[in-house]
Amino acid sequence: MAKLYINPNRKMGHINPELQGHFSEHLGRCIYEGLYVGKGSDIPNVNGMRTDVVEALKEMKIPVLRWPGGCFADEYHWKDGIGDKAKRKKMINTHWGGVVEDNSFGTHEFMELCRQLGCKPYVNGNVGSGTVQEMSEWVEYMTFDGVSPMADLRKANGDEKAWVVDYFGVGNENWGCGGNMLPEYYANEYRRYQTYVRNYNPDHKIFKVACGPNGDDYEWTDTVMKKCFENCGPNHGFMDGLSLHYYTVPGEWEHKGAATKFTEKEYYETLKKTLYMNELIERHLAIMDKYDKNHDVALIVDEWGTWFDVEPGTNPGFLYQQNTMRDAMVAALNLNIFNKHCDRVKMANIAQLVNVLQSVILTEGDKMVKTPTYQVFKMFSHHQDAQLVESFVETSEVGVEDENQIPNLSESVSIGKDGKLHITIANTALNVDYDINGIMIDAAPKNVKAEIIHGPMDAYNDFDNVEVVTIKEFNCIKIDNNDIVFTIPACSIVHIEVEM
Ligand code: AHR
Repeated sequence: MAKLYINPNRKMGHINPELQGHFSEHLGRCIYEGLYVGKGSDIPNVNGMRTDVVEALKEMKIPVLRWPGGCFADEYHWKDGIGDKAKRKKMINTHWGGVVEDNSFGTHEFMELCRQLGCKPYVNGNVGSGTVQEMSEWVEYMTFDGVSPMADLRKANGDEKAWVVDYFGVGNENWGCGGNMLPEYYANEYRRYQTYVRNYNPDHKIFKVACGPNGDDYEWTDTVMKKCFENCGPNHGFMDGLSLHYYTVPGEWEHKGAATKFTEKEYYETLKKTLYMNELIERHLAIMDKYDKNHDVALIVDEWGTWFDVEPGTNPGFLYQQNTMRDAMVAALNLNIFNKHCDRVKMANIAQLVNVLQSVILTEGDKMVKTPTYQVFKMFSHHQDAQLVESFVETSEVGVEDENQIPNLSESVSIGKDGKLHITIANTALNVDYDINGIMIDAAPKNVKAEIIHGPMDAYNDFDNVEVVTIKEFNCIKIDNNDIVFTIPACSIVHIEVEM
């Protein structure tokens, strides 16, 4: 019997809703087809945004959306995407499949999408191939409400009122597709570009995100932090957040492995690589702490998720992959890790929202499917805006090979605004159920109810079978002598709601 200890009286930090954030790039069928079909489409839409997708994302409680990239961000010139659609420039999306980008989805459309979703916008600026003036004018265009050339242009294009931009990224992956810069060079560029990301709205300060490391590139973090903190006065490195990108790639970059056909060994390897996220967060934070003694700068994991070989027969530049129970497990492990670091990790954005990499939604024509990853986000939404509380679960190792052993259980616990305790716990073992004894310290449970996501590791939802992996009621749980007692089935994720 594994013991799960919960101390509801020991609050560990606020879980920002943005820890369950998302990312949408002009890549493959994410924006076009997946989110935006245009007003004239036969697919039901409001102002061009697919109604089915918008409704599903609202139900999942999407808190924030990053756009327009990704690598696309450092090739994007925002003025190409405003004004009369018929006159907007067409260009080649060189990075992603060489297809024509007609710029019919631009700033106004993105803000309209966020309005419909009720989520915060996270806009990523162009450092790699853009100018300081271009970035500065974009911020003015979006957020300035007075009289100015850019505010007037926005008004002329139909939006009288300025928008709120909550988050702004100053470049993306500038160590790679965003300009192949060295960390010291980027740090100087960051200092210059961010100067002109002005705060025009006194009530909504823009949260500035600097480009952080690729996975375990600790030198990047060290140099960028050091250089940005030099002579910065009270401005904590001129940044509010530093990004981290880390993808779960089960195989090698050239042969990543298939999304739906994989062995038990590959399943455990995938989860082992996912759990590496915890070490990355801890080590990058330790480096940041050398310069940011007051913890003013958050770590922002603005790209994460599984990256497999594309589905056979699809455009390799579109990064389209199916999504199984294994992806659900990857999402649950990562979201539990982010919760446990909620004092320093303030936003995380899975890549990507629709039809690209580890998506929560897949579409085909007018059909839509909610993936197993979607189910996890919906289940974990109870943690949004909650207080993390201290918890600990006894674990043992599971796996099919000595070097790929992983802990059998992963958990996090919070107290929601509803005053209820929310436990999310995953059993990573493929063939073993575990008896759990949930012990509450200095508190007693009055009532429990639970739900489960459960299935074979390779189960998935597709367009002809949309409900293979869904959230189901889980009744095999009871209160016994003030303990919460249940058996967690193999390869499952459970959410328990406790009234105290
Ligand atoms: O999400 C796909 C790509 O992965 C993004 O464009 C880039 O930032 C990262 O390398």
